[in-house]
Amino acid sequence: AVLGFASLACAEFPDKPVTLVVPFAAGGPSDKIARDLAEALRKPLGQTVVVDNAAGAGGTIGSAKVARAAPDGYTLLVHHIGMATAPALYRKLSYKVPEDFETLGLINEAPSVLIGKPSLAAGNFAELRQWIASNGGKVNLANAGIGSASHLCGLMLQGALKTSMTPVPYKGTAPAMTDLIGGQVDVMCEQATNAVPQIEGKKVKVYGVTSLQRLPLAALKDTPTLSEAGLKDFNVQVWHGLYAPRGTPPAVLAKLNAALRTALKDPDLIKREEALGLTVVNDDRLDPAGHRKYLEAEKARWSKVIRDAGEYAD
Ligand code: MLT
Repeated sequence: AVLGFASLACAEFPDKPVTLVVPFAAGGPSDKIARDLAEALRKPLGQTVVVDNAAGAGGTIGSAKVARAAPDGYTLLVHHIGMATAPALYRKLSYKVPEDFETLGLINEAPSVLIGKPSLAAGNFAELRQWIASNGGKVNLANAGIGSASHLCGLMLQGALKTSMTPVPYKGTAPAMTDLIGGQVDVMCEQATNAVPQIEGKKVKVYGVTSLQRLPLAALKDTPTLSEAGLKDFNVQVWHGLYAPRGTPPAVLAKLNAALRTALKDPDLIKREEALGLTVVNDDRLDPAGHRKYLEAEKARWSKVIRDAGEYAD
């Protein structure tokens, strides 16, 4: 029998470059993670892997772009916890989670760090907490748009401090970091991926990490967790995953998942990410069905937090 076109296409997949869409501006943590992954996917896929930054609206513009892309395996999405929070934040979202996507596996977990502009007088979290309590609404809290990880962490921080600050949204945390270093904004809850190099370079002040354990990095060995610094059990971990549009052929999904498994075993990638405080997932979190279940559970969990906070984008 003649091979159906579809199965022929799958057998050849990939026979042209694969695109990883990053729903935030270049230079941010999502972009860094995606470029690391693109590099590590090149060999197992035997193809060029390029990154396309489609920023805006807290990651929902890039996610919508992939939801609408041809389901042929050549347009993928690298996204984080924002995949789980967008449905509650954007009530008129143009795509459904997880229905409009195929889950290809998780990538890593990233703790965030509470950082401040260099001219901040506060020398530790207790002093920063005091300053925020007496300046509340005047404090500029940078984020990468409603639905971003920095927005979510900021939401949790304001809830824990029982203070609301003034959110200053950017298309990604790279431009936000530039303004923080320049003193145009006051504080940001940024993923370690972007924060660690700036802390090592002493470009920003650091007040605490959002994981329950301190980071095993020289530059952050004296940085407390926010939980030990007074926000008991404060814990925000930003997980990242890989997605394809719904309807991508199973044979193509299987090839992509196999390539992801190989890429995440790349010792250089693991070393680079661990040096930034990230934890690359192990094999059992690379199961597409498990990723889908985790996404659904996170969507349910964060939808409640967001509804309780009454925080909506539209
Ligand atoms: C976020 O806050 O969601 C990300 O850090 C944004 C980014 O990767 O630029």
